[in-house]
Amino acid sequence: MEHLLTLIYLIASITFMVGLKMLSKPDTARKGNLIAAGGMTLAIFATIFMYTDAQGNHLGNLMYIFLALIVGTVIGWIMAKRVQMTAMPQMVSFFNGMGGACAALISIIEYNHMVHTSGGDMSGFMSSKGLIILAGLIIGSISFSGSIIAYGKLEGKINDFSLKGQQIANIGLMLAILVISVLFNIGQISGSVWFFTILGLSLFYGIIFVLPIGGADMPVVISLLNSFTGVAAACGGFLYGNYVMLIGGILVGSAGTILTVTMCNAMNRSLLNVLVGNFGGSAATGAAQSAQGTVKEITKSDTAILMKYAKKVVIVPGYGLAVAQAQHTCHELETLLEEEGVEVKYAIHPVAGRMPGHMNVLLAESNVPYDKLVEMEDINPEFATTDVVLVVGANDVVNPAAKTDPTSPIYGMPILEVENAKNVIIMKRSMKAGYAGIDNELFYRPKSFMLFGDAKDTLVKLVTEVKSL
Ligand code: TAP
Repeated sequence: MEHLLTLIYLIASITFMVGLKMLSKPDTARKGNLIAAGGMTLAIFATIFMYTDAQGNHLGNLMYIFLALIVGTVIGWIMAKRVQMTAMPQMVSFFNGMGGACAALISIIEYNHMVHTSGGDMSGFMSSKGLIILAGLIIGSISFSGSIIAYGKLEGKINDFSLKGQQIANIGLMLAILVISVLFNIGQISGSVWFFTILGLSLFYGIIFVLPIGGADMPVVISLLNSFTGVAAACGGFLYGNYVMLIGGILVGSAGTILTVTMCNAMNRSLLNVLVGNFGGSAATGAAQSAQGTVKEITKSDTAILMKYAKKVVIVPGYGLAVAQAQHTCHELETLLEEEGVEVKYAIHPVAGRMPGHMNVLLAESNVPYDKLVEMEDINPEFATTDVVLVVGANDVVNPAAKTDPTSPIYGMPILEVENAKNVIIMKRSMKAGYAGIDNELFYRPKSFMLFGDAKDTLVKLVTEVKSL
């Protein structure tokens, strides 16, 4: 039985790796997710029915286990079904927080178990097991409280909040947690009160660590906290000698770390700058020069004419497309233009929107063929031969200040070089800034035209105009 369980864990671990690999491409992502979820289900049921302890006892409390499984599955299912695409980051954050809480609970339970089985002699805690219990406790609780704060910020329920010298206070608190943990682990201080002090301080650290970070930087922080949860879960895997939990935790930890670094690179910012920079938050500043001049407006009928008689149109989707939920209408316009013999492509910036792969997910939802989604490096050389670029609710990812203005907060971020096209039509509701809170010089350039309005309404009208030509 034990060998069979190990084999099942191996199979489940392989499904995680295969699933993760498949998630990196839009056309295989859905299947990859299902494969990994299937592996996880297999691992859960194999553990419930096949796991035996050293004395050969099977798991007890099956009623409670299944009750918890049913409640968790129903809540998760309803939340995932109901969530708006734009609210995805906060849902990920909430679920991640639950993972962190689980990891911390494992540490609490294992600590209590040690207290009750040791008969007062806690020398066994001064071991690698004690160290792992503490690591799971600290990392899991930071991830839990930090994720819940991130969730609250993204939901608009919690505002950015920082005190003078807070970063120093944060570092001091982290050092205090580490020192108390080391002293506790080596037996210099003892008693459950210290264990729960570490828990309390870690929960508090998670809160004050995330509170001052700019609200708009939350996706990066969530990814970082996600990697924390992975590491905390891996600690649980260590404690129980459970390979699938260990491997799953390590995969989440490393994938989360890679994603965090990738997001920072795509924004040309260091992780430190994200953590202490308060970029894009309510307190965002930005020494950038503000763009000046007058903008030219274009009508929907002129836009329709330009696009219908163009050879090549590139659509640049951004956060506004997600807000307006205009992806289906956008696909309709693209199909219509293709039927008229226009070549249409989508230019995908790595950090367009508010979460990794946001635009890919959005456009896949409306069945845009994957080969039409062209990554930034590949589409940039094509703008010179493009007749019309239609920017739909994107702003920062097409802002030339990233290349030309060293004082801009986005300076150095690679952008979609849409200004090389013959005509650039920018569809948005107003002259308001995007995520980085800065003006966009592109709007004032000679080849640029503003098409004001909600993305969905405007696209619906454009479809009608193209049809009537
Ligand atoms: P943004 O720069 O945020 O610009 C979005 C624009 O959409 C806004 O200027 C807004 O202008 C417009 N908009 C909003 N609602 C609209 C609607 N209903 N109809 C039409 N337009 C609408 O978006 P972006 O260009 O996609 O850039 C993404 C930004 O997010 C980057 O700065 C990136 O660094 C940051 N970020 C991304 C991620 C990931 S992983 N994707 C993570 C963290 C941060 P109006 O208000 O005038 O309409």
